[in-house]
Amino acid sequence: MATHKTRLAVFCSGGGSNFQAIFHAIPKKGLNAEIVLCLSNRSQCGAMEFARQNDIATVHLTEKQFGSFDEFAAAMVSCLREHRIDIVLLAGYMRKVPEAVVAAFADKMLNIHPALLPKFGGEGMYGINVHTAVLQAGESESGATVHLVNEEYDKGRILLQRRVPVLPGDTPELLAARVLECEHRLYPEALEKLLAEQHS
Ligand code: GRF
Repeated sequence: MATHKTRLAVFCSGGGSNFQAIFHAIPKKGLNAEIVLCLSNRSQCGAMEFARQNDIATVHLTEKQFGSFDEFAAAMVSCLREHRIDIVLLAGYMRKVPEAVVAAFADKMLNIHPALLPKFGGEGMYGINVHTAVLQAGESESGATVHLVNEEYDKGRILLQRRVPVLPGDTPELLAARVLECEHRLYPEALEKLLAEQHS
């Protein structure tokens, strides 16, 4: 008997290029999964626009809509339950995911980080800061990491990692673009790996 399609939620705050890469990779790779929800703290971001254009449900959730962080967390869990989400993919989500949500999706939540964790992870290491830090440290290579999410930032089990070179004359922006291109191939591969692990 065929197993049901794994229902994915993506959490985004920005352009959503990783979301789009995963969306297109699912049929190409023949993955038994579908993105059924895009959740964002920014209703008009590129990711939400892409979801609307592709008939994917969108949910705009921010702490400000609730009286407390706990209520916000509970609403997020309920929303994921309502949409019968199996796996959550963080793809450029710039807010802290509440612990209650992380706990509800233990081993079922992935994040992509634009560096070779455990280096250049943790507090303050997001966006262009990461690439600036890599260049300042004089590294000869950087890359991308897809990892499982647990309570500690950027510290869950690493699922896949890929390297890219740091080139002479690199600026943080040039390096970011090279890493992002690598992310677009890595995230679908990591999802494929997680799906295989869960069905083995
Ligand atoms: C990526 O670099 C990702 O590693 C980081 O945020 C960026 C998201 O870009 N967490 P996009 O929204 O997927 O284009």
